[in-house]
Amino acid sequence: MSEIVYLNGKFLPIEEAHIPVLDRGFIFGDGVYEVIPVYSRHPFRLAEHLVRLQNSLDSIKLANPLSDAEWTRLTLELVARNAGDDQSIYLQVTRGVAKRDHAFPKGVKPTIFMMSNPLSTPPAAQVENGVAAVTAPDFRWLKCDVKSISLLGNCLLRQLAAEAGAVETILFRDGTLTEASASNVFVVKNGVLLAPPKDNLVLPGITYDVVLEIAHAREFQVEVRAVSEKEVRSADEIWVTSSTKEVLAVTSLDGKPVGDGKPGMLFRRMHTLYQQFKRDVMRKAA
Ligand code: PDD
Repeated sequence: MSEIVYLNGKFLPIEEAHIPVLDRGFIFGDGVYEVIPVYSRHPFRLAEHLVRLQNSLDSIKLANPLSDAEWTRLTLELVARNAGDDQSIYLQVTRGVAKRDHAFPKGVKPTIFMMSNPLSTPPAAQVENGVAAVTAPDFRWLKCDVKSISLLGNCLLRQLAAEAGAVETILFRDGTLTEASASNVFVVKNGVLLAPPKDNLVLPGITYDVVLEIAHAREFQVEVRAVSEKEVRSADEIWVTSSTKEVLAVTSLDGKPVGDGKPGMLFRRMHTLYQQFKRDVMRKAA
């Protein structure tokens, strides 16, 4: 089965999907996106992803071109038309095609694009041993809660990790932890799980919500509050979370071991609970 994508009203093979060079997504990065994990052909928390999409669209003053019912129908059809029970649905909306001018064009139809990729979860070795991360100042803009397709800042930051042979770049703004280049960050200190609050400086992760829900349900000690760079550097455990990374332990930060250099006890507990949640809830979600 060749990969089928959705573009502006049509399902078609990816090789046949083309957009004009004046699309504002191409010219300005003027658009927003979502990544929705699909387990056993059930999109996980689609309603929550659509709320986040609406918030991103509201932030960039772009009217949602589709209703939630239409997004849901298209998502399910795209999942059905592609191979694999576990998929990652990527969707993006741009402000459409117009002569290059920074101000918004009038009467232009947004471009809607959706594709499916196999959902690849972290290899067992990463779960067992943890991963390396580096750190960098968070030089991105002040609307990091918008899931913007303008990801140059995130790409530059992630590249630092790639060049260091690490998996993620953990970011600090004015001495405070924000997130990582493509994931949220949690810290464990003295048995307490610390989570930076959702504000304009972080992407409100759906996986972040799941991890906090599990933590509360299982009576982990949790504090949602600003976490200092110092606390990160002296943490017992550091975790990164995202739809594709799930929960991963960071066991080396800037080349130094985190805690004893192995995934910590709370991480192992959370990882097991997350896998149970995936099996019992995500794979059965309506
Ligand atoms: N990224 N923070 C940033 C900057 C992200 O790009 C992501 C996800 C997250 C975690 O969000 P969620 O738990 O909803 O996946 C946090 C996606 C996977 C991506 O851009 O591919």
